[in-house]
Amino acid sequence: MTHVTVPVMLILSLFPCKILFSTSLASRQPSVVDALGLHNDLRIAKHESSVILFWKNNLTEEETDMYDVKYILSYKFFNSAHERKEELQEKKKIIRLELRSGFSAKVKTRLFEKGTEDLIKESSWTEFTYKAPPVYVQNLSCIIYNISFFNCTWHIKAEAPEDLQVFFSYRHARKDFECQQYIKNARKKNIGCHMKEIYFQPSRKINLNISVRDLRNDSRRQSYYKTCIPQTIEKLNPPVNVSISLENRSIKIHWKPPPTIGSASSKCFVYQVKITDHKPVVVSEEKYEYPFHKPPYKCAAQVRAKKEKCIRNKIWSEWSEPVFIDAEKTVDITLLILTLFCLLIFLVCLLTYACRRHRFLEAMTMPIPQASDSIKTWLATEETHHQKHISMQVEMHSETGLEITEENCDMNVQQQRHLMRSGSEDL
Ligand SMILES: *[C@@H]1O[C@H](CO)[C@@H](O)[C@H](O)[C@H]1NC(C)=O
Ligand SMILES: *[C@@H]1O[C@H](CO)[C@@H](O)[C@H](O)[C@H]1NC(C)=O
Ligand SMILES: *[C@@H]1O[C@H](CO)[C@@H](O)[C@H](O)[C@H]1NC(C)=O
Ligand SMILES: *[C@@H]1O[C@H](CO)[C@@H](O)[C@H](O)[C@H]1NC(C)=O
Ligand SMILES: *[C@@H]1O[C@H](CO)[C@@H](O)[C@H](O)[C@H]1NC(C)=O
Ligand SMILES: *[C@@H]1O[C@H](CO)[C@@H](O)[C@H](O)[C@H]1NC(C)=O
Ligand SMILES: *[C@@H]1O[C@H](CO)[C@@H](O)[C@H](O)[C@H]1NC(C)=O
Ligand SMILES: *[C@@H]1O[C@H](CO)[C@@H](O)[C@H](O)[C@H]1NC(C)=O
Repeated sequence: MTHVTVPVMLILSLFPCKILFSTSLASRQPSVVDALGLHNDLRIAKHESSVILFWKNNLTEEETDMYDVKYILSYKFFNSAHERKEELQEKKKIIRLELRSGFSAKVKTRLFEKGTEDLIKESSWTEFTYKAPPVYVQNLSCIIYNISFFNCTWHIKAEAPEDLQVFFSYRHARKDFECQQYIKNARKKNIGCHMKEIYFQPSRKINLNISVRDLRNDSRRQSYYKTCIPQTIEKLNPPVNVSISLENRSIKIHWKPPPTIGSASSKCFVYQVKITDHKPVVVSEEKYEYPFHKPPYKCAAQVRAKKEKCIRNKIWSEWSEPVFIDAEKTVDITLLILTLFCLLIFLVCLLTYACRRHRFLEAMTMPIPQASDSIKTWLATEETHHQKHISMQVEMHSETGLEITEENCDMNVQQQRHLMRSGSEDL
């Protein structure tokens, strides 16, 4: 790294040669000499994608030895409300620009009683504004998914020159990688990069390199750098082996954590469980129990995962494929309905038979010997039932279109008749 320690005015004159997309530096604020006699001198140098801020004071060596000298640096990137404030002992700060278009900074000197926190003197702020050459790329974001896949995307600002193209590469674990497959927009500009079969070392930095070139003039190029840690940009796969069961009046859902590039310790993961349309619930175990009062008619469960405890990661996995409560239960209900339906048909047939048998009995002049009263009563009641069931049968015919053929019924009738006979013979 080359430290350029020339005064700002000199650097200003050097910049146009170093940065080929026009450069403009805000004019330096006059050094502040405050009532306490502290004089700050703020300087700046540019190194690749960083800006180095230097400052000096005019304390004598004697004074420097006599006091603890500390500096307060405060800076804020353009288009950001977040002000970063630091207390420093060194007289230098490297500010990484990444894709930002500049910042405003200010510094002040503080003298403390040696070895204490007692403030003796404080200078006023010395301010400085750094405006970078126009940056045409913004919103760079990267994601690692399915263990070995790597996607990065960015936006090209509308005001970007027509002949601009964006190239992407990165450095990870001391190796350089070129983009494998660019994602292009309608104007054939590269707006993303898709890569696969990448091996990541979860805690080693990835140094992203976005290079913006003017295709007509190869000398006009600018590179921007940003770093990220693989683990923090990993989008996990959905949890695996998700299962659901009904037990003791509760729904039980079990799953296993998805594979990951980093630590697979179960304490690293957090999950969200979604049951049908309920609000997702955050869970840290690999199971969830949902008690219910009424058995659910139909219910689907989904789980998603992310890492939170071992490493801060904001990216949730996709939801797992829904698992449904006990498919058997649904089958059971259908079976039950079917069984009931058959039973009903059987009854209808039985009653039809009973009716015929009754008429047959009436037609018979020969009385049944020792026909008990109970059979007579039974037959009499059945007759009235029969009337109801006939109308029911008609209804069923029209509603279900189900054919109860006379043949089938007659077969039953034959069997029933046999049974009845033997029944009455026994009596
Ligand atoms: C620092 O410089 C300013 C003017 O340049 C002067 O007024 C002040 O006394 C100096 N302070 C010290 C501590 O030398
Ligand atoms: C890109 O980032 C800027 C802030 O840097 C934000 O205002 C803008 O909405 C983002 N654009 C998109 C498309 O996400
Ligand atoms: C995930 O990775 C595996 C193995 O590398 C691959 O077989 C599978 O197709 C990938 N899935 C997706 C959705 O890309
Ligand atoms: C990554 O990029 C590829 C290619 O454009 C795309 O198909 C895929 O859905 C992207 N994956 C993610 C997780 O963004
Ligand atoms: C970044 O990429 C550009 C274009 O590919 C290349 O010229 C430059 O050397 C790269 N920077 C680093 C630090 O590798
Ligand atoms: C290319 O860009 C450089 C720097 O901006 C400029 O000096 C040069 O004239 C340009 N060349 C062409 C052919 O436009
Ligand atoms: C998921 O289930 C399959 C088959 O039942 C089994 O082979 C696999 O080991 C399970 N995965 C995990 C992470 O338990
Ligand atoms: C379910 O209830 C039964 C009896 O009430 C009990 O023996 C069993 O341990 C319970 N099972 C679970 C998983 O709680």
